[in-house]
Amino acid sequence: MTEHFTDGNPIMATKISPLPAKALQTEARFIETEPYYEAAGNEIALFEAAYASQLPVLLKGPTGCGKTRFIEHMAWRLKRPLITVSCHDDLTAADLVGRYLITGNETVWVDGPLAHAVRSGAICYLDEVVEARRDTTVVIHPLADDRRMLPMEKHGELLQAPPEFLLAMSYNPGYQSVLKELKHSTRQRFVAIEFQYPASALEEKIIRTETGADSATAAALVRLAQMTRNLKGSGLDEGASTRLLVHAAKLIARGITPAAACHGAIAEALSDDPEMLQAIDEFASSVF
Ligand SMILES: Nc1ncnc2c1ncn2[C@@H]1O[C@H](COP(=O)(O)OP(=O)(O)OP(=O)(O)O)[C@@H](O)[C@H]1O
Ligand SMILES: [Mg+2]
Repeated sequence: MTEHFTDGNPIMATKISPLPAKALQTEARFIETEPYYEAAGNEIALFEAAYASQLPVLLKGPTGCGKTRFIEHMAWRLKRPLITVSCHDDLTAADLVGRYLITGNETVWVDGPLAHAVRSGAICYLDEVVEARRDTTVVIHPLADDRRMLPMEKHGELLQAPPEFLLAMSYNPGYQSVLKELKHSTRQRFVAIEFQYPASALEEKIIRTETGADSATAAALVRLAQMTRNLKGSGLDEGASTRLLVHAAKLIARGITPAAACHGAIAEALSDDPEMLQAIDEFASSVF
């Protein structure tokens, strides 16, 4: 059977263009085995205290520094299902809340991921929230303050979030343009946790644990990362993240030479500029 969606009142299925059914599928994940996460500071205690106080949480920090891994770890720790929504510039309030689904002659309401998370007392993680359309803040605001309510206008329902529900979102203050900054009325509803690249010893440990790399390889990769991080703002928009170091170490573990691994996993991921690529290759040969 073909399924069609509409935002408003149900209309004949033949008159509306089908949206992908996946857009509304909400995947609540119970994480059963502990996701490996190295804490850099008091972020675990802070998150637990925010959760116990029913306060929403904002994870700030550059790409690849452990935000997603952290939320997975916390969902496991708090034994709550996790629903992640990757926000994009077409994401509307209806995508989060839900909409009517028309199948044949029948019209059924289908919860979006946010409504599903509220009903099931899950952790809802809105990844890269500034990318979402402005109207999403209309539904987030009453949920993120002490009302903890999700208005579902089209369905004529007002959901009250149970104490187990938590709203979390991520935000990368670095790249977003002025237009895409989080509004104060949004950000001032959240307890913010700042993420940075881990300190050297911790980052080396993460690389070793994630990839089985030896100490010398992990240390060299961290030195290389620091060189690229120093170029932030003078040729590079971002330095190499922990994620990129993990990628390079994985390639090295499979027998790729360090030079080729760093070129493919780090240099090319950071820049397209031939001079910058050469500079990063030279950094790599200086540390290996
Ligand atoms: N503190 C940490 N503990 C364990 N692994 C980490 C940590 N920080 C980073 N990593 C490693 O770095 C990788 C990237 O981290 P993650 O996907 O959590 O980044 P992110 O901050 O969510 O990035 P983005 O903003 O691009 O989504 C992880 O898959 C993991 O291998
Ligand atoms: Mg992430």
